[in-house]
Amino acid sequence: MGGRDAGPYRIDEMIPAEAIAERIGVLAREIEAHFAGTRQLVVVGLLRGSFIFIADLVRALDLVVEVDFLEASSYGNAMQSSREVRILKDLSSGIGGRDVLVVEDIVDTGHTLHHVLKLLRARAPARLETIALLDKPSRREVDIRATWVGFEIPDAFVVGYGIDYAQRDRNLPFIGQVVRPE
Ligand code: IMP
Repeated sequence: MGGRDAGPYRIDEMIPAEAIAERIGVLAREIEAHFAGTRQLVVVGLLRGSFIFIADLVRALDLVVEVDFLEASSYGNAMQSSREVRILKDLSSGIGGRDVLVVEDIVDTGHTLHHVLKLLRARAPARLETIALLDKPSRREVDIRATWVGFEIPDAFVVGYGIDYAQRDRNLPFIGQVVRPE
């Protein structure tokens, strides 16, 4: 990687920054149509992986939005999502009776989104929808799908555009695949 130590692995570009921006534009129009008439949409970013996606998404949305964050942690190796999910940071505001859009970076096994939606549903929002930038359907262990998906990807470990590998590489402007030496 030009100008910095890439570490003991290579990162191959999978989704260029321009393709992400273009896809967000398309999804934003669908979300606007879906939430037309909503007084103030609560957009909930799941930390930390969604922070760049939510920043670009809300700026593309021609809606009145409120931004909140939730941090759920999964245990296990950096390369593996675990089934246990814990809430590390809860929402700052109530969502009862509100229209809510949950923004996730990747739906992998589906456990994180399943758990978060169960938690938020119990707070009786008027409408609860989800958007995931990336979806790895081949990895699914829970039958769940985001309302909107940016890109379906194969079973690869990806970084960039907010997504990390052991807290690195979130600042890459594109989505890249981690390729480890044989
Ligand atoms: P799930 O609970 O298995 O669906 O896992 C979702 C979370 O695992 C995502 O929000 C990411 O934080 C993390 N994750 C899953 N796949 C990847 C990946 O390829 N790169 C980095 N993080 C990932």
